[in-house]
Amino acid sequence: MKILITGGAGYIGSHVLNLLGQQGHDIVVVDNLSTGRKESLLYGRHEQFNLEEVEKLDQLMAKENFEACLHFAGSIVVPESVEKPLKYYQNNTTNSVNLIELCVKHGVNRFIFSSTAALYGDSAPNGICTEETMVAPINPYGRSKMMTEFMLEDTAKATALNYVALRYFNVAGANVDLKVGQCSPNATHLIKIASECATGKRDKMAIFGTDYDTKDGTCIRDYIHVDDLAQAHVDALTFLEKDKESAVLNCGYGHGYTVREVVETVKRVTGKDFPAAEVGRRAGDAAILISKAEKIREVLGWKPKYDDLDLIVRTAYEWEKKL
Ligand SMILES: NC(=O)c1ccc[n+]([C@@H]2O[C@H](COP(=O)([O-])OP(=O)(O)OC[C@H]3O[C@@H](n4cnc5c(N)ncnc54)[C@H](O)[C@@H]3O)[C@@H](O)[C@H]2O)c1
Repeated sequence: MKILITGGAGYIGSHVLNLLGQQGHDIVVVDNLSTGRKESLLYGRHEQFNLEEVEKLDQLMAKENFEACLHFAGSIVVPESVEKPLKYYQNNTTNSVNLIELCVKHGVNRFIFSSTAALYGDSAPNGICTEETMVAPINPYGRSKMMTEFMLEDTAKATALNYVALRYFNVAGANVDLKVGQCSPNATHLIKIASECATGKRDKMAIFGTDYDTKDGTCIRDYIHVDDLAQAHVDALTFLEKDKESAVLNCGYGHGYTVREVVETVKRVTGKDFPAAEVGRRAGDAAILISKAEKIREVLGWKPKYDDLDLIVRTAYEWEKKL
């Protein structure tokens, strides 16, 4: 299949590119390398420009006859979105309007969108989110993504475009063969930061908030291995090809760990100790976000292989040592 991937040089996009490339698809990656790395592009052709450059994108799409678009490019740091909301509405919402419009114009009728559990905010009872849980994001990052989901829903009703919005929970770890991994500069992801501490790249880390209504007072998240998430995209592409329908699906394992549990796991698995200072809450964090994870298995036939926190941590740490 001829595929356009935006943001393919980034953490998640590069893992999906690795899988789709291995399957022999013909891929063009549009990525401005704002947070991605050229070395992570193991397959396909790279076009380095900003999605804001709509004319360039239009010309590329007119020339290439893409059959599918996977849209990863975006800004992803929740606390930054609280400080600079318009950056997020520009990069995540406005750029998505333009991309979706060009997909309709050029007949690219299969669209996969990187959505997020941040859409749920604090709205899920006990923090367990089903796809029917009310979307009520509590930060500009989540709102900027929510608007893109709404645009896709409305566009799918009005045009031939079908889409799968994958609502990622906390993505973590690195490719099990260590071909690609997370390189994001200034990452705020817990397991990445703890791995940086374990490898000595950082001398300490922070635990934000110890007074949440959870078993040990720290936030609970559902950590999904990035290779399992990448496989969900491959399965979503097959679904769009065969079923010609749209779907909104959670991507998580259906259970969670507290921040303290994750930090302890990193220390145990790596055999390294490092300071983890307990500080106040960070803006925009929900207490608990856990996926109700049945629908994606039913709709896509997705079968995760790496639901194992130790393995997630080990791959993140091994990758961090290689970087
Ligand atoms: N990492 C997570 O835990 C997580 C969770 C939920 C959702 N998501 C979503 O998944 C997607 C990918 O996240 P990631 O962790 O791989 O982030 P990332 O920062 O590693 O990757 C984003 C990629 O997009 C590129 N990019 C950003 N803006 C661009 C623009 N305007 N034009 C061209 N290229 C641009 C960057 O250079 C980078 O390569 C994002 O849309 C994010 O919102 C991520």
